[in-house]
Amino acid sequence: GNPYRDDAAAIRAGRDFYNQRCVACHGPGLKGGFAPDLSGWAESDEKLFELIHDGRLAAGMPGFASLGAERIWQIVSYITNGEAER
Ligand code: HEC
Repeated sequence: GNPYRDDAAAIRAGRDFYNQRCVACHGPGLKGGFAPDLSGWAESDEKLFELIHDGRLAAGMPGFASLGAERIWQIVSYITNGEAER
């Protein structure tokens, strides 16, 4: 499971990573742009982790394994659990 669920500091760190690494494609506040809106993510945190880790290269979504598990979980927390930080 997600070790950072409801962890406010991790959610803010995840927002910072999102704004460095994801915002250009997915838009400010998760609202979409070139790539899909992520604000209504309805699947599990684990599924989201896997997607960020592996990407979907054929569809233009890079993988972010190089960030490491801790940072990826922080981004997951921002997306699924960070409503107040958007
Ligand atoms: C170079 C542009 C680009 C960057 C940077 C990028 N993405 Fe994506 N992302 C995409 C595209 C394009 C898709 C759509 C893939 C598809 O159609 O299956 C996507 C899909 C996704 C999806 C699946 C959305 C869905 O509803 O199926 C998630 C989740 C996601 N990205 C998260 C992230 C996160 C988190 C980051 C930053 C760590 C990130 N992406 C960075 C382009 C990008």
